[in-house]
Amino acid sequence: MASAEGNKLWGGRFVGNTDPVMEKFNASIAYDQRMWDADIKGSKAYVKALQKAGLVTQSEMEQIVTGLDKVFDEWSKGEFKIKPGDEDIHTANERRLKEFIGDPAGKLHTGRSRNDQVATDMRLWLRDAVTTLKELALQLISTMVERAAAEIEILCPGYTHMQRAQPIRWSHWILSYATALSRDVERLEDIKKRVNVLPLGSGAIAGNPFNIDRELLRQELKFDSISINSMDATGQRDFVAEFLFWGSMCLTHLSKMAEDLILYSTKEFSFITLTDAYSTGSSLMPQKKNADSLELIRSKAGRVFGRCAGFLMTLKGLPSSYNKDLQEDKEAMFDTYDTVQAVLQVATGVISTLKVNQVVMEGALSPDMLATDLAYHLVRKGMPFREAHGCAGKAVYIAESKNIHLSQLTVEDLQTVSPLFDKDVSWDYTKSVEQYSAPGGTARSSVTAQIEHFRTWLQAQKQKP
Ligand code: ARG
Repeated sequence: MASAEGNKLWGGRFVGNTDPVMEKFNASIAYDQRMWDADIKGSKAYVKALQKAGLVTQSEMEQIVTGLDKVFDEWSKGEFKIKPGDEDIHTANERRLKEFIGDPAGKLHTGRSRNDQVATDMRLWLRDAVTTLKELALQLISTMVERAAAEIEILCPGYTHMQRAQPIRWSHWILSYATALSRDVERLEDIKKRVNVLPLGSGAIAGNPFNIDRELLRQELKFDSISINSMDATGQRDFVAEFLFWGSMCLTHLSKMAEDLILYSTKEFSFITLTDAYSTGSSLMPQKKNADSLELIRSKAGRVFGRCAGFLMTLKGLPSSYNKDLQEDKEAMFDTYDTVQAVLQVATGVISTLKVNQVVMEGALSPDMLATDLAYHLVRKGMPFREAHGCAGKAVYIAESKNIHLSQLTVEDLQTVSPLFDKDVSWDYTKSVEQYSAPGGTARSSVTAQIEHFRTWLQAQKQKP
């Protein structure tokens, strides 16, 4: 049976034992141990502030710091032993500190609560996680941009409603996703501003009664700013919710990209071939090569969105300040991080290794995709667009009823629709894409400008702290 006191940080007022099922239900150590490093960092800063406030002596501070370094050592060597009763990472670290240095360990928690401690740990952990995710996202974007630059001459059909729409450059397709991902990077930076705020010194709810120097804590822990209100600092988790939304949005972008690539890799399309490194086979059908990497990327958006929606449900309607419900923040945050960091790396691998089948891609272009150009031909001769659209539509109809391609209509055929048609009508796909030279379009010059934009942007991102 669990004892009433044991290692518990709150044993004093309890007489009965905790039900073992409850003990397990209450514990977060299984997952919050991932924050061991952040927890020790926070404690080392806090003991300095305690010493400055005269609550521990210089010698006690040194003992605590040395003890915390030993705890750090054990964790980093993988030698830390979690004991029954180590409810969470805060309890475990303090228990071990006490085993190392004895009584002075009991002074570390003066004026501190696990409520401001856990919020501090979470923010420290997420700050690093966000930095890693940003680097991985930049790698993916850079891979896309270089691929787009190398394959700028390749044309392919562009689809809307999954129907053949207009010819585009393959690079234009790639860069459409690089663009979305660049917004994800910027969103991540914005989130970091709100994550990087110091909650330590907020206590359980009311603040800190010992005149703790919070500016010293901020500097020690390299936070940008200090939380404004202790109830908000301990009781709100919007910084976590924002991160979960961020993950959901980023993976929504990548799931959409994955869906395109899955389709393009089918035998029917054969636009691209995935390397074996990112495909798997079937245990039953020997011919199968499945795009599992892309299917998994597509699937993970649902998983992370579930984390986001689930945690928002947990937050909704909670009373003010800390409630144990908030312990649910951690698994959502860790799982989102683990998932997104894996997806970003696999996506980078897929994009950098897939083979483009240029002949098939360009062979899939068909003259009907130039019907818009036919209308624009008339517009350039002075016809209002609405009328031109109707004339081009008629041309499509005539070709269909003759069972021939649009491009097989003679100038005479076209002139039955409008006398403004002449032999300048072009069926050249490259000429077609080259019309779209306004910024953001699929013409060579415009795609080159996009590539330059991203190269400069990537350079600037890498130089940021
Ligand atoms: N393990 C807890 C959590 O993750 C730490 C904070 C506990 N605070 C408390 N008042 N019981 O939220």
